[in-house]
Amino acid sequence: MPAALDFAECRRRAKSRLPRGLFEYIDRGTEAELALATIRRHLDAVRLVPDSLAGPAPRNVSASLMGTDLKTPLIVAPTALAGLVTHDGEAKLARAAARLGMPFCVSTQSITPIEDIRAAAPDARLWFQLYMFRNRDLTWRLLDRVRETGVDTLVVTSDTPAAPIRRYNQKNGFGVPVRASLPLAWDLATHPRWTLSVMLRYVLEGGIPTYGHYPPEFRSSLTRNAVAEDVRLDQALGWDDIDELRRRWPGKIILKGILSKAEAEKARDREIVAIVVSAHGGRNLDLAVTPAEVLPEIVEAVGEKIGIIADSGIQSGGDVARYLALGADAVMVGRLPLYGLAAAGEAGAAECLDLLAADLATTMAFLGVGDLARLRRARRMPNR
Ligand SMILES: Cc1cc2nc3c(=O)[nH]c(=O)nc-3n(C[C@H](O)[C@H](O)[C@H](O)COP(=O)(O)O)c2cc1C
Repeated sequence: MPAALDFAECRRRAKSRLPRGLFEYIDRGTEAELALATIRRHLDAVRLVPDSLAGPAPRNVSASLMGTDLKTPLIVAPTALAGLVTHDGEAKLARAAARLGMPFCVSTQSITPIEDIRAAAPDARLWFQLYMFRNRDLTWRLLDRVRETGVDTLVVTSDTPAAPIRRYNQKNGFGVPVRASLPLAWDLATHPRWTLSVMLRYVLEGGIPTYGHYPPEFRSSLTRNAVAEDVRLDQALGWDDIDELRRRWPGKIILKGILSKAEAEKARDREIVAIVVSAHGGRNLDLAVTPAEVLPEIVEAVGEKIGIIADSGIQSGGDVARYLALGADAVMVGRLPLYGLAAAGEAGAAECLDLLAADLATTMAFLGVGDLARLRRARRMPNR
């Protein structure tokens, strides 16, 4: 494998290997897909002033978040259906992240359930992302299972109160559980390598792949309608629910999807240890403000008290540096490791994450900052 798995190369390979429906599900945005470009534009607009004669300094990218040390400020974001990118995709991502000492956040909507990911990656630092089901008993039961695997950090996603408007999924015949359709059949037939190495392998092991944490009845077309209401994501998530989770979950809680100072302050007042300032990768609300836009005021308001993670649109070490210079303590990356996984499996995911950390260190060298604390104080232009 040539060692050049940057974002563009990984994405190019993912596009050629994955069925169109799956690639577009990962790659594209929502509605008119304006958010993707806006997130990019706002990141590009953050420029940092280098300190060119700062002298020799050991480059240290280690980070501190919620009182714990991280080898790098990178966290692998929760991504639904990562297990479709390659066979056992979530376990591979967990192992790739573990190799580099990065936390891997398992999605509620993963293909492989958390118990199996834990068994396949015993050394991984696993977090769990929670989407609250409308049926709360199912949610509490899921949390019990998660706790049994030794996970102590729960990432509660608050920015998905409805199914996002992504018409291309319908057009491509892409959905969960998988339903037979002409576009899907054509997609599978024209991507035989993926069809055989991923889909057929799952089928031979026991069935069509689906959400691993959902009740078994969800898999069957005969019983699916009966459970569909139960597992619908809760549209009415509110602060009372967060309080209830606080009572039920003994570990740390992170809120993901915060884009306003007011919500960040409410999170701080509720013993939430960190927030993820996130636009969900431009996949949910097309007209939402972007993390780069709102980070400075959120950091100013609550940064002293709670951890701040940023995500959306990270393609390079420079993008990581931008979010950190805007005040984030760490970042999450979603699409990049998925493309790395598609390009070259577990090794590909590890390589692209490693490259991201290495490029961050190089960017810091050019800026003349030795550690993340100094990077956070780097002078920005425009000076907001
Ligand atoms: C294919 C895909 C699936 C995702 N699924 C989830 C999910 O299940 N839960 C969640 O909180 N966020 C989910 N996200 C959002 C990511 O956690 C993260 O916020 C986003 O991908 C960051 O932007 P980036 O992809 O540009 O790095 C998903 C993102 C992608 C690309």
